[in-house]
Amino acid sequence: MTAEDFRTSAHAAADLVTDYLAELPARPVWQPMDEAARTALLDGPLPAEGRPLDDLLAAIGRDVLPYPMGNGHPRFFGWVNSAPAPAGVLATLVASAMNPSSAGGDHADVHLERAVVRWIAELVGFPHPAGGGLLTSGTSMATIVCLAAARDRAARRAGVDVRADGLAALPPLVGYVTGETHSCVRKAAELLGLGSRHLRTVATGPDGRLDPDELRAAIERDRAAGLLPFLAVASAGTVGTGAVDPFEPIADLCAEQGLWLHVDGAYGAFGRLDPAIAHRYAGLERADSLALDPHKWLGVPVDCGCALVRDAGELRATFSLVPSYLRDETAGSLGWFSEYGTEQTRPFRALKVWATIAHRGRDGLRQDIARCTALARKLGELVASDEELELLAEVQTSIVAFRHRAPGLDGPALDALNRELPAAVQRRGRVFVTGARLGEREMLRACLLNAATTEDDLRLLLAEVKAAARELRS
Ligand SMILES: Cc1ncc(COP(=O)(O)O)c(C=O)c1O
Repeated sequence: MTAEDFRTSAHAAADLVTDYLAELPARPVWQPMDEAARTALLDGPLPAEGRPLDDLLAAIGRDVLPYPMGNGHPRFFGWVNSAPAPAGVLATLVASAMNPSSAGGDHADVHLERAVVRWIAELVGFPHPAGGGLLTSGTSMATIVCLAAARDRAARRAGVDVRADGLAALPPLVGYVTGETHSCVRKAAELLGLGSRHLRTVATGPDGRLDPDELRAAIERDRAAGLLPFLAVASAGTVGTGAVDPFEPIADLCAEQGLWLHVDGAYGAFGRLDPAIAHRYAGLERADSLALDPHKWLGVPVDCGCALVRDAGELRATFSLVPSYLRDETAGSLGWFSEYGTEQTRPFRALKVWATIAHRGRDGLRQDIARCTALARKLGELVASDEELELLAEVQTSIVAFRHRAPGLDGPALDALNRELPAAVQRRGRVFVTGARLGEREMLRACLLNAATTEDDLRLLLAEVKAAARELRS
């Protein structure tokens, strides 16, 4: 391939992407793939011979781009998936052209990762010792990284070298979560051999926030039973309702009891940038570790999570393993990123983070995030003032938890209707919202992550939910 051939195709790709992004808001948010298009992707035969790049771009434009998940659209309110930041989209192309392994060494990607991890810590007000964090595929992986360090510290304090002696040598560790803690914490506990049964579910108050008195009582019960409490997990924005746990009293208790405090900030940690809700995050900086996702509220194109720890030595002690073929005189005193996490070959995630943050600047990000929380509060008001709907939780960040009241229905029938509603709304194609269970009740949850969303979009969301409910009931 000549440079000119590549340039021609690269320009064509840029046009394709530009048209796709520009036309997105006028298209259905999401639509099911038609059978033939799905089958064509699923059953495509392994090509024996190659095809020219312009042919591939035409196929992408015809077979792939018309069927997005929907999360680039301003009327996408589902799960916690954002629209891609334009600077991040461009940086992704450049990063893949360089294609380094960001494991370590003296090359630009490695230094840029150190800088953006520091920026991320600064954005959310978390202390950042040199080496105290790294980019990951997402918060699920960041949680495994942080909880591994927590487990190793607890083992070390109990005189056990878990890396050498394995899980059988571990004392009976127990950790604490709430019913609203994300499932990735349980997965991490299972993978790390801690056992999900040894994660106690601590009660929350009516606001969905962890109750520190209940946490203390649970710790005391477990100590009395001869177990070793070692970990508390708090949320900086739960996935169900966006609740932010009270970090100050939880951090006090963890300090007093010698527990590792881990905060899941995947969705909500960047909410701290918004002065209107920053007070909710007081004490976040006292955690031992924080997992968060630039690929959520910042809009950094997937994938990009981040693990931050207050003691870089804990991470290195947990993960460092340097075989002789990886010795590197240029690495400097911090060594390689691969000494602080699970991955050896690591993608160049830092460039899309750098570009996304540098393009908007801290003030621009603050504006975008503040717009989302203001929209969420507005949506909460619209729900609360609509007699067909019920607001199920205080809007603490940018998630609105609500349900249809469906007059005449109650109990299981009302739950069944609300459970079917998200899919019915999605099929109509005008807005996209998802559901979940909150305690005993089925609900819809709208997550506001896109600063391009308007108040009219919010009204349309509620109109669509009500129209879909009528459709289902008839
Ligand atoms: C609160 C919370 N924690 C953890 C996760 C898992 O993060 P990831 O999907 O980046 O692994 C999510 C994902 O939505 C989340 O919302």
